[in-house]
Amino acid sequence: MSPSICFPSIVSKLSLVVLLLSAISFPSCSSVRATEFALTTKEESDVKEQNQKEVEEVEEEELDPEDLEVFYPTRQWQTVRPGQALPAGLHVQLNLQTGERLAKLPDNDNEKRDAKDPSKNKRLGPIEIDPSSFTTQELKKALAKMKESVKAEDMLEQKAHQEDVRRRFRPIEKLKEEFRELNVLLETDFEIMSKLINRFNRTTSTLEEKIAALYDLEYYVHQVDNAKDLLSLGGLRLLINGLNSTEPLLKEYTSFVLGAALSSNPRVQVAALDGGALQKLLVVLATDQSLVVKKKALFALSSMLRNFPYAQQQFLRLGGLQILRDLCTEKGMETLHVRIVTLLYDLIIEKLLLKESEGQDDHMEERTQQYHQVNLVPAIVEQGWCTIISNLLKRPQHDTREKVLKTVDVLLAFCRENYKGDHNLNHTLSLLRQEYEELAAEEQKEGDGDGYFKELLGSINSIAQQLK
Ligand SMILES: *[C@@H]1O[C@H](CO)[C@@H](O)[C@H](O)[C@H]1NC(C)=O
Ligand SMILES: *[C@@H]1O[C@H](CO)[C@@H](O)[C@H](O)[C@H]1NC(C)=O
Ligand SMILES: *[C@@H]1O[C@H](CO)[C@@H](O)[C@H](O)[C@H]1NC(C)=O
Repeated sequence: MSPSICFPSIVSKLSLVVLLLSAISFPSCSSVRATEFALTTKEESDVKEQNQKEVEEVEEEELDPEDLEVFYPTRQWQTVRPGQALPAGLHVQLNLQTGERLAKLPDNDNEKRDAKDPSKNKRLGPIEIDPSSFTTQELKKALAKMKESVKAEDMLEQKAHQEDVRRRFRPIEKLKEEFRELNVLLETDFEIMSKLINRFNRTTSTLEEKIAALYDLEYYVHQVDNAKDLLSLGGLRLLINGLNSTEPLLKEYTSFVLGAALSSNPRVQVAALDGGALQKLLVVLATDQSLVVKKKALFALSSMLRNFPYAQQQFLRLGGLQILRDLCTEKGMETLHVRIVTLLYDLIIEKLLLKESEGQDDHMEERTQQYHQVNLVPAIVEQGWCTIISNLLKRPQHDTREKVLKTVDVLLAFCRENYKGDHNLNHTLSLLRQEYEELAAEEQKEGDGDGYFKELLGSINSIAQQLK
């Protein structure tokens, strides 16, 4: 494959800067990547399965940019943590001084935004991304700063990303040169996607070519408009068909592309649900498949369900929650547990937040109606998730515990009967309290009075208090 598959559309759609940034936030376009990675994924994971479980989990997290934590945008600028996946269509800023990235939902009223944006008053504060406004040097410096600004626990993840960036990206000067050369053969995203879809659909394509096409396609469908083109090109139908292919790699990669296309894209979500994608994803999750396949299917399922109450209803109706619970007892699927809990937490919170924002939107009444019919929490309690979730507090990773603590906290009112007499939970909480008291004290000594560990300690104390 030639690099022309990637670069022209980048020139047309994105700036050099966004290219650099997107390399850090989500998988980016590289044909090299497709051949290097695609067919070795399985091998890697086989090797890993022999390693220690926890080590595996950490590595899995790092190597999977597509289903890293998603950034939830608001109308306010928020810091984007390294590795967070950015939904398409946001305003993104790069603070050249700190190397931090900020993102928020687009604001219709530009002038108002400028007035409200406090950064505009600061010298060298965050600036809107505009490739002409800063130099290569500044960019490099900003990327270097990004490295310095991360916390110790983010360092490993950050390093993996940088390696990835380095591997995928040529020196900036070289890149510019290639852009100039490629200018003559500009292709639109639509044309490129059409080619990729054809390559995937062609009966004469080898499995490797199909996987490579899917891998490249995944890059394009992150953009909301491209994901809509996926519909008009008939690509969605092909992807859904791929979910019940007999070839595990095709199951894996069609899930991967679907997950990206479904993220924050209501039109694709509706079309995929109508096309039977939900049932097929549940079949993948319920049957005997490898961890990598199930992981991608879970990613696609999560993208399908988020902010889509009708799909959530169908999910419950089809027994999806039981399928996820069975995954939580299936051997070898431990790395999926936290992702599952994160999904459940997000769905619970989504419904709660809706209550807070009632009356802000014309469609709100209908949405409220739909959410009303999603009886997730009662099903969670009934199916014994309370204990499944609290048991995950025994995992050693801080960020896992953080997610589980949040979930336990939000479920506390409903799981009270389960949690109250649970000596196991009581014991776990006191061990965690000890550990985080020490870590919070160290943190304070280093001058971080309102640090991460103090926050975790606060959650633990609050939960323990409420269980008294
Ligand atoms: C896929 O190929 C078949 C014939 O092999 C064709 O009928 C169909 O339209 C193609 N689908 C897309 C989306 O290109
Ligand atoms: C996949 O499912 C469709 C129906 O949704 C069916 O027509 C097709 O034969 C199935 N493919 C395989 C390989 O089972
Ligand atoms: C929890 O454990 C603490 C000691 O760690 C003990 O004082 C307390 O009574 C226990 N509470 C319950 C509900 O078992």
